[in-house]
Amino acid sequence: MQLASLSTLNYRNLAPGTLSFPAGVTGVFGENGAGKTNLLEAAYLALTGLTDVTRLEQLVQSGEREAYVRADVQQGGSLSIQEVGLGRGRRHLKVDGVRVRTGDLPRGSAVWIRPEDSELVFGPPANRRAYLDALLSRVSARHAGHLARYERTVTQRNAALKAGEDWSLHVWDDVLVKLGTEIMLFRRRALTRLDELAREANAALGSRKTLILTLSESTTPETYAEDLAARRSEEFARGATVTGPHRDDLTLTLGEFPASEYASRGEGRTVALALRRAELELLSERFGEKPVLLIDDFTAELDPGRRAFLLDLAASVPQAIVTGTERVPGTAQTLRAHGGRFTPEEEAAPADPVTADPVEAGA
Ligand SMILES: Nc1ncnc2c1ncn2[C@@H]1O[C@H](COP(=O)(O)OP(=O)(O)OP(=O)(O)O)[C@@H](O)[C@H]1O
Ligand SMILES: [Mg+2]
Repeated sequence: MQLASLSTLNYRNLAPGTLSFPAGVTGVFGENGAGKTNLLEAAYLALTGLTDVTRLEQLVQSGEREAYVRADVQQGGSLSIQEVGLGRGRRHLKVDGVRVRTGDLPRGSAVWIRPEDSELVFGPPANRRAYLDALLSRVSARHAGHLARYERTVTQRNAALKAGEDWSLHVWDDVLVKLGTEIMLFRRRALTRLDELAREANAALGSRKTLILTLSESTTPETYAEDLAARRSEEFARGATVTGPHRDDLTLTLGEFPASEYASRGEGRTVALALRRAELELLSERFGEKPVLLIDDFTAELDPGRRAFLLDLAASVPQAIVTGTERVPGTAQTLRAHGGRFTPEEEAAPADPVTADPVEAGA
């Protein structure tokens, strides 16, 4: 998978235009507020159709009503054009001019690593569940469908609980148990591999403590129907569905303790990076092709080991875009970011062994 070029119009502070990206690493450096994160966010959106902003209007340049991003994507020898239009709370997606839904875009096309990823470790359980749900939805469209229908069912069931509609509950329960069971079983299967990949990555990052990923389930596929029935009166009292995969947590155990409560900041940062590398590997295995790797602000990483890990990871994939407030070493292209514009720079001439002093070179 390769992003040949990215075009944007009215996207946050980015100046309208098209940027080309070669294979290998593109380094983007510039001062705070230059638009580096916005560039990666736009690339991720154009590649995957995904964004995690709460209001799509945030992505539209202030004073404008609509924004547009386009990725020209090279995949397996063919070029396709992915377009995302944003406006008034809606996103329109097109592939080669044909309207599609988010799930129809190539699902393994990009992985985005950013400083905020520490929140996967230290934030609330919902963050880890969101990581797992988002990743597994990309691995399996069927799982994505189950999750979406399950979430709608929980909402409708909660409304019935609040309204005290005892008579309608058995209908919702049947659907909930069927979808919830599918979700739990798929999560368990996928987690086996994700756990291995994250453990390997955590060790590769030099951590001496073992990382283990486990699901803390509020129920099991075998007992879901019973568990629901047992908590019926509590559910009516609270007006909410209290058991099921929407309440599960992805527990990250580092050494002997849960990382969310016991890990140091640096250990947590390492675990977050391990989760992202595991994501990259899982998507590569699933789709047989490496995603485009987007790394935001490698300079925020002060630990030399983790910095080297990030740069090595970028060099290990066919294409990566790496941002920072300082120049990124070892790039195929360097862009200087300034006020939402990105200007290609001449590479600093590497030491040329042919023209170097023969005595020195031979020494
Ligand atoms: N909808 C919007 N319209 C106009 N400008 C916006 C919009 N959203 C964000 N911005 C501006 O975009 C600017 C660049 O933000 P961005 O996060 O990309 O900077 P950055 O280069 O990553 O900086 P840092 O090095 O601090 O991470 C910010 O100054 C912000 O005010
Ligand atoms: Mg930034």
